[in-house]
Amino acid sequence: MAVIPVDVAGAPYEVRIAPGLIDRAGAEIRAFVRKDRVPVITDANVAQAWRARVDTAFEAAGLTAQWLILPAGESTKSWLYLAEVVDFLIACEIERKDRVVALGGGVIGDLVGFAASMVKRGCGFIQIPTTLLAQVDSSVGGKTAINTPAGKNLVGAFHQPALVLADPDALDSLPLRETRAGYAEVVKYGLIDDPEFFAWCEENGPRLLAGDREARVTAIARSVAAKARIVAEDEKETTGVRALLNLGHTFGHALEAETGFSDRLLHGEGVALGMVLAARFSVRLGLMNGQDAERIAAHIGAVGLPASLSALSLTCDGARLADHMLHDKKMDAGTLPFLLLRGIGQTFLARDVDLADVAAFLDDELKR
Ligand SMILES: NC(=O)c1ccc[n+]([C@@H]2O[C@H](COP(=O)([O-])OP(=O)(O)OC[C@H]3O[C@@H](n4cnc5c(N)ncnc54)[C@H](O)[C@@H]3O)[C@@H](O)[C@H]2O)c1
Ligand SMILES: [Zn+2]
Repeated sequence: MAVIPVDVAGAPYEVRIAPGLIDRAGAEIRAFVRKDRVPVITDANVAQAWRARVDTAFEAAGLTAQWLILPAGESTKSWLYLAEVVDFLIACEIERKDRVVALGGGVIGDLVGFAASMVKRGCGFIQIPTTLLAQVDSSVGGKTAINTPAGKNLVGAFHQPALVLADPDALDSLPLRETRAGYAEVVKYGLIDDPEFFAWCEENGPRLLAGDREARVTAIARSVAAKARIVAEDEKETTGVRALLNLGHTFGHALEAETGFSDRLLHGEGVALGMVLAARFSVRLGLMNGQDAERIAAHIGAVGLPASLSALSLTCDGARLADHMLHDKKMDAGTLPFLLLRGIGQTFLARDVDLADVAAFLDDELKR
């Protein structure tokens, strides 16, 4: 089993990664819970694929899961379901030292983590991430949130889990398109500061997406280690180090907004294309060489992720996409912080990017 420590001040925890971990979930969490009855919150898709196995695993350790099964999908990260989770946990008589299990993708992790941050002024929670995105990104680091009509993740809290159990076998039931979208966040860690890991992705990404266990474990472990290091350094995103995790996200969010946060473009797909655009924009600014940018685009395209704007058949212009960026919550006193690259594995935060330049660049990309 790979064990990655996350050394956040005051509340360090472990991310455990191994195939078959869900079937041992009861034994793994036994030492983390005080009562035999443990609330487990999930969504309908995950329940269908994994509920019976979690029940069996809990029973083997003398535990009983108290299930709350919510509808699947981004719209579950809402006030409505936040209230439902909070009421459920109170009905379960959860205490501050107790722990609720979040079994699912980033939607369940973000929602349950946020509920846990407020019930009894903060109770414990354990993440069992079941999407690649949640395993390599959202289950680690303690950001929790819901969406409101004004935008995504606008209401939330920092609340770290007590334990994360990542079972790569969970991906066996995940649609390939979702796994691929999560894979974009894996590539991101290579591009941020680890060129050797990017080269590993070029060689092993296709194998991972074909279901290879060893490749999944390596990708999850290296991604979590990278995120853990960044989060330990800048837990609450105050120094700018944690902002590096947003590589590709400013372009990506604009594309998600333009496509209505719908199935037309999954978050990870937007990030994949966003990273290609960040690289090409960096070339245009004279920061990076064109070969590196095209190497990134080639890998993104090779694994079946969108690598050019033409893949989206948008009808808008660059100015409209740039305008979406203004509404991004990462706006800082009027200037747009932007993650750019000097090369593969050399991402940095630029604070003075001119939005008109971005719009002109996007106009050219739309014509490519
Ligand atoms: N907290 C953070 O740091 C952070 C980081 C990145 C993303 N996020 C958030 O994560 C969310 C996206 O997460 P996601 O991509 O995991 O989406 P998701 O939770 O909606 O899961 C994607 C789909 O896969 C299904 N699913 C999940 N696991 C499955 C499995 N093993 N088998 C079959 N189906 C399964 C779900 O029901 C859903 O339909 C967004 O809300 C985003 O804001 C948070
Ligand atoms: Zn992301």
